[in-house]
Amino acid sequence: MHSSKRKEMKVVRTISELKSLISGFKKEGKQVGLVPTMGALHAGHMSLVSRARKENDIVAVSVFVNPTQFNNKEDLRTYPRTEEQDCALLEAAGCDVVFVPSVEEIYPEEDTRVFDLGPVAEVMEGKFRPGHFNGVAQIVSKLFSFVEPDKAYFGEKDFQQIAVIRRMVELEGFKLEIVSCPIKREDDGLALSSRNVRLSEEQRKIAPNIYRVLKESCNFASNHTVAETVAMVTEELNKLPQLEVEYYEIVNGLTMQPVENWNDAPYVVGCITVYCGDVRLIDNITYKAL
Ligand code: PAF
Repeated sequence: MHSSKRKEMKVVRTISELKSLISGFKKEGKQVGLVPTMGALHAGHMSLVSRARKENDIVAVSVFVNPTQFNNKEDLRTYPRTEEQDCALLEAAGCDVVFVPSVEEIYPEEDTRVFDLGPVAEVMEGKFRPGHFNGVAQIVSKLFSFVEPDKAYFGEKDFQQIAVIRRMVELEGFKLEIVSCPIKREDDGLALSSRNVRLSEEQRKIAPNIYRVLKESCNFASNHTVAETVAMVTEELNKLPQLEVEYYEIVNGLTMQPVENWNDAPYVVGCITVYCGDVRLIDNITYKAL
């Protein structure tokens, strides 16, 4: 789909530059794919970019550490910021436009919008990170209105986030396709995350146990109840040094509501948040696929 004579990647910092660039592409009849990110790009993000590259004429990536979705000031302060490296990776991946706005550009005044995100946003991350999903809805809705992409790409590591974004799209009436992309993992199973760089050497060795136990729980689940499986995962992980499960919930993969029995839903996913020292890691596993 993409011409072999590729124009060089444009890095834009203002909404007006972004809009005028994108509207030029649209006038040429180009299909635009958007990959929203908070930067500190890793192979997980790059898999979204490469999927967007295959499916669109133009690939736009946003790199913005969105303050309104952080409910913890320290997490916002320590969130890794690697703009130069991010731009180099995006250029090499054939991205056309990178949008790297300042906080003032995005929020010249406080965004007071409160989205009616409903039950998908009330459980798990919604419960443990109050305001987080409203902040995600604020920034993603702004990005969608600036770019008006045909498709937008999100990683399944943030499984609940995708459901929340779909709900926001429905509320706001955006006409686009949300593309959800599989989790990328290190060879030892640890889900790729920008926060992984904050793990100490010792924590980095312990963290892959999260996925190991999740995988083991799939066999366990074949002859145990949902409650027993939740207890097994939680206990196995809490036994290990430095790990502390914040929540493990087995949910309907469409509504995000906890299931009591394996047959309660056609799509069943286990979603976990674990502290490894003071680094908050999330992951998930599918027990029943759609
Ligand atoms: O998943 C993320 O990195 C962020 O929540 C997103 C979607 C880029 C919004 O800031």
